[in-house]
Amino acid sequence: MKIMIVGTGYVGLVTGTCLADLGNFVTCVDSDLKKLTVLKGCKSPFYESGLEERLKRNSEAGRLSFTSSIRDDFKETDVFFNIVGTPSLESGELDLSYMYSVVREFFDVYKNTGCNDFKVFVMKSTVPVGTGQEIVAIRESYGISDDQVAIVSNPEFLRQGTAVDDFFHPDRIVIGSSCDKALDIVQKLYDPLSRRDTPIVRTSLQTAELSKYASNTYLATKISFINEMANLCELTGADVSDVSKIMGLDARIGRYFLNFGPGYGGSCLPKDTKSLVHLSEILGYDLKIASAVEAVNDHQKKRVMSYILDYFNHDLTGKIFAVLGLSFKPNTDDVRESSSLVIIESLLNQGANVKAFDPEVNFLSEFDGYDGFSIVGDSYEVAESADAIILVTEWNMFRELDLKRLKSVMNQPVFFDLRNVYSPKKLEDAGFDAYVVGRKCLKVAIDKG
Ligand code: UGA
Repeated sequence: MKIMIVGTGYVGLVTGTCLADLGNFVTCVDSDLKKLTVLKGCKSPFYESGLEERLKRNSEAGRLSFTSSIRDDFKETDVFFNIVGTPSLESGELDLSYMYSVVREFFDVYKNTGCNDFKVFVMKSTVPVGTGQEIVAIRESYGISDDQVAIVSNPEFLRQGTAVDDFFHPDRIVIGSSCDKALDIVQKLYDPLSRRDTPIVRTSLQTAELSKYASNTYLATKISFINEMANLCELTGADVSDVSKIMGLDARIGRYFLNFGPGYGGSCLPKDTKSLVHLSEILGYDLKIASAVEAVNDHQKKRVMSYILDYFNHDLTGKIFAVLGLSFKPNTDDVRESSSLVIIESLLNQGANVKAFDPEVNFLSEFDGYDGFSIVGDSYEVAESADAIILVTEWNMFRELDLKRLKSVMNQPVFFDLRNVYSPKKLEDAGFDAYVVGRKCLKVAIDKG
């Protein structure tokens, strides 16, 4: 099939590249000319495991190309995917201006080129419930019928860091539309995946849109729930790693997304939870659970600060903190809504110096105005002369650190493990004063939220 992908962020580029890998002819469109130069050179503009080799392979085979205009290849294209960014505004409302400008450009080109072939317009960016129907109304305002252009919602469930693998091994594929012909066409695209028993759910536009928000908000709920259990463990002396394991062994609960830590980040869970709360407010419905999930997460990101302040007698002036991990999770270089940023900002505002190391992030503009911040080249360099280590992102390379060597280069042996990478015993045996989230507190006042 001939496909066009508009927007080459991580979802757009992974989707386009993987659809080309399945034998389709894919044109990716982006208005960022610098990015297009990188892509045409068969390089990925961001780190995503398994992407670059597929990008190269499919470009060389002539199945994947890049351009700046949807006009190129418009006529031959069967299915258009709109995957441009929908950034969050402060209120939780989404900025849908890029998304709608693609919609209008699509209908303009369809109309002005006198096109009459059947085309499928797929919304893959996460958009508020009702957006698909808005696009139908826009189509009607152009005098274009359902027999000419059908609108489909096909939410994505890819995770950054494992997006390529997730594309080929999805738990489910959701396609929503009122047009059966369009559902058949989109379903055919995913047929090679459904042969592996992946359920394909055909439903309405609104249901497909809401299912994406419901899924991400539920994942966020699981994380905030286990984080609250971790906090309760700190007050009771229970161990949250066992609590999480015991809960997860119940098939009705499931073991995934019960990892406790410094709160969830990234470009999706925070934004989607907020956006669902915002939509509910507009509809006059008080979405209590999702609002609480957000509040718990905001607090969780800052929680370690109260321990740090207590431990250092509320004076961090001149102290040096070594932060391990800047990305919002391992295997990505994305720092959006990362807990590290919240912690680093608080430390710097308290007069501390911060050195950070991350295997994939070596530049951050967020702290440009602060003299006390630097990014260094490895885990031992970051620990040099530090008064405490704070492990925020659980990259695999942080799991096998030589703890004795780390301790030997530090000013004071204090370790805040926010991801339960090390057992409290292992840290203490290596001579550290240790805090392990939900498992072991330092001898300071406990944060009661
Ligand atoms: C999330 C969803 O998992 C995907 O299914 C969805 O497609 C994607 O959003 C999206 O909407 O595009 P992603 O943001 O890539 O994927 O990352 P996750 O793996 O969900 O992790 C999000 C955050 O939750 C990270 O900060 C991670 O450290 C945290 N997390 C995750 C926990 O604290 N505990 C857990 O048990 C799992």
